[in-house]
Amino acid sequence: MAKYKIMFVCLGNICRSPMAEFICKDLVKKAGREAEFEIASSAVSSENVYNGVGAPVYKPAQAELKKHGITCEGKRAQVLKETDGEKYDLFLCMDDSNVRRAKRILGGKNEEKCKKLLSYAGEIGDVADPWYTGDFTVAYADILRGVKGLLDSLE
Ligand code: 4NP
Repeated sequence: MAKYKIMFVCLGNICRSPMAEFICKDLVKKAGREAEFEIASSAVSSENVYNGVGAPVYKPAQAELKKHGITCEGKRAQVLKETDGEKYDLFLCMDDSNVRRAKRILGGKNEEKCKKLLSYAGEIGDVADPWYTGDFTVAYADILRGVKGLLDSLE
């Protein structure tokens, strides 16, 4: 069983948290640490799941990942569930609103597992939502700093 089970969380699970999931998987693979990790991502809203089927990663997010040689093929949006609270060790949220909503979904249990991703880069800020800002390059850079800090903390 993986030593660290981590779930990245954002609003829609089609931009930031899947970017974080696949950036993290890429870094973990390059470090030869795949056996240590189980890595997933999910949404606090059900906006991108229709009749039980999740939307693929938003095209501009896919393109940003591709610039860095990362594919997210096959990823479909899913909504965070209360039962994930027991299954995962950490919920890395992109902004304060994600943290509040994730805690609510987890039903008041496992609240200490919900953190903001950028706190692992020693920052208090949010990963701004490129769905609204249109800036996927800034989102990529923010997420990369957070994920690197996270992996360093889990050595
Ligand atoms: P994300 O961005 O939370 O980074 O995946 C969003 C994507 C879609 C929506 C909101 C945020 N939406 O409302 O559909």
